[in-house]
Amino acid sequence: MNEKQLVANALFAVLSDSLTLEEITSLIERPKSSELGDLAFPAFRLAKELKKAPQMIAADLAEQINKEGFEKVEATGPYVNFFLDKTATAKGVLAEVLEAGADYGSEDLGHGGNVPIDLSAPNIAKPFSIGHLRSTVIGDAIAKIHEKLGYNPIKINHLGDWGKQFGLLITAYKKYGDEATIMANPIDELLKLYVQINAEAKEDPAVDEEGRQWFLKMEQGDEEALRIWKWFSDVSLIEFNRIYGKLGIEFDFFTGESFYSDKMDAIVDDLDAKGLLHESKGALIVDLEKYNLNPALIKKTDGATLYITRDLATAVYRKKTFDFVKSLYVVGGEQSNHFMQLKAVLKEAGYDWSDDMTHVSFGMVTQGGKKFSTRKGHVVKLEMALDEAVTRAQQQIAEKNPDLANKEEVAHQVGVGAVKFFDLKTDRKNGYDFDLDEMVSFEGETGPYVQYAHARIQSILRKATATADASNLSEVATDPEAWEIIKALKDFPNIVKRAAEQYEPSVIAKYAISLAQAFNKYYAHVRVLEENAGLTGRLALIQATAIVLKEALRLLGVAAPDTM
Ligand code: ARG
Repeated sequence: MNEKQLVANALFAVLSDSLTLEEITSLIERPKSSELGDLAFPAFRLAKELKKAPQMIAADLAEQINKEGFEKVEATGPYVNFFLDKTATAKGVLAEVLEAGADYGSEDLGHGGNVPIDLSAPNIAKPFSIGHLRSTVIGDAIAKIHEKLGYNPIKINHLGDWGKQFGLLITAYKKYGDEATIMANPIDELLKLYVQINAEAKEDPAVDEEGRQWFLKMEQGDEEALRIWKWFSDVSLIEFNRIYGKLGIEFDFFTGESFYSDKMDAIVDDLDAKGLLHESKGALIVDLEKYNLNPALIKKTDGATLYITRDLATAVYRKKTFDFVKSLYVVGGEQSNHFMQLKAVLKEAGYDWSDDMTHVSFGMVTQGGKKFSTRKGHVVKLEMALDEAVTRAQQQIAEKNPDLANKEEVAHQVGVGAVKFFDLKTDRKNGYDFDLDEMVSFEGETGPYVQYAHARIQSILRKATATADASNLSEVATDPEAWEIIKALKDFPNIVKRAAEQYEPSVIAKYAISLAQAFNKYYAHVRVLEENAGLTGRLALIQATAIVLKEALRLLGVAAPDTM
C-alpha cells in the first residue's frame, strides 16, 4: 500500500457516507512544507453537506481517524495533516527495494501489448547527426521504460534510404564518383557528392531532371540503379552500426523507407477507392482542409512517391503486423506537420487506430547557439563527439582514480553515458547546446555525477563489515537527510509510470540526479560505516539507493560501473 492509499483508507473509514474512496484519493495533497506533514486532506468539499465550517470538520476528522501507520494526525485550519510513521514507512520501502532488486518499480500495465517505436532513422549516405542521436537515445529509453511496465516495445530503425535524393546521388556518382575513394571514407565522400550535385541541380535543371530519372528507375526496379543504391546503403550501414555499437543500442528491425517501396500501391489504391485522392496540377493529393492542414501530396506528376506515401504504407504495415496498442515515432519537432498530415490522412481513410499513433517530438540540438545542418556539408559527426567524450572521461579518471583496473571500459561507460544522460535530462521538447565539458563533468547535473554516487556506495558496501538489515531503521527514520532518501525511493514506481505516460525520460533523469544529491547530502554528514547499533540500517539505506540509482540509469541506457 502506498502512503496515499494509507491516508485515503483511513479517511474513507470515517467518511464513506459522504465521499467515495476515489474522490478522497483525488483530494489528497502534498503539503508545501514538511512541517505540515507528508500528506494533507482539505475539508472544504464537505462543508456544504455536513453544514459545518471546514475548520471544524478538519478538527473532528483528526480526532476520529484511526492513527495506525501514522506518527500523528492533526488539523491545521481547514486541513487534516498526516505525518507518516517514519520507521514503518522506511522499513516497508527498504525491504521492498532490497527484495525486488532491479525489479523494484516494475509493473504489468501493458499486458504484453506491442508498442512499435520508430527511432534513430538516419539517412543513408549522410552523416549520423546529433538529431539522430536524440532520436536514438530517447527512443531506446522509452523502449526500456515501456518494457519495465509490461509492454512489448519493438524498436524499428526507419532508415531514410529512399527518395529522389538517391537519384541525384547516383547522378553525382556517375559523373564524379570514384569507388575506391568512397570505400575509404564512405559517408564523407557521399556527402561531398551530395552537396556538390545539389548545388548543380539548383543551377541546372538538366541535372535535376537526371536525378529524378534515376529515382524513377529505382522505383521501377531498374537493376543498375538499385545496385548502386544498395551499395550506398551497405557502406552507410557499416558506419551507422559502428556508432550503434559505441552507443550500445540494438534494434529489432532495420526496415527503412525502401522496405515499403512495394507496399505503397495498396494504400494509394485504398485512398483512391475511398474517393480521397484529388488531382492538382497533375499530382495526387489528399485534401486536409477540415483538419486545418495543407493538402498531403501523395504522388508527384511523374508518379514518384514521397516521404508521406512511404509513412502511410509504414503505418498500415505496422498495424497489420503488430496490431499495436500504441505506435510511437521519435522524430524531431520540425516534422510535426508531417505527422499531423499522416494521422489526418489515415483518419480520413477510416483508420481509427491512427489515434494510437504518437509523434514523440524533440527539440533541436545546437552547438555554440547555431543549428546543425547536413545539407551544406556543415556537420559535427556524432562519432567524433562520442570519442571525444570518452577521451575526456579518461582524463578525469586518470586524475581521480589512476589505479583503476578496467579504466578503458569505465571511461567508455562514463563518456558515452555522459552524452546520453545530458540529452535525456532535458525535457525532450526543449533543445540544448552540445557542450562536452559540461556533459562529462563529475559535478553538476550530469550522468557522471549520478554514476559516481552509485560507485561510491558500492565502494562503501565493499568495505562494510556487516550486512544490510532493513528492520533496523530507528536511526534512519529519525535522520532528516535519510528521510529525504526514503521518500525518493518510495516515489520511484510513480516516476517510472509518469515517464511512460509522458514519453519523457527526463522525468527519470531528473529523479536520478535528485536521488544522487540526496545521497551525497546524507553521506556528507553521517559516518555510514561506524560500528554502532545503526550500522546495518544505514547499509540497508545506501544499498537500496544504489539499486534504484542503477535501475534509473539502466532505463536511460546508461551503465553504472561499480568503481570509477
Ligand atoms: N529519416 C528521417 C530524418 O532523418 C526520419 C524518419 C522518421 N521516421 C518516420 N517514420 N518518418 O529526418
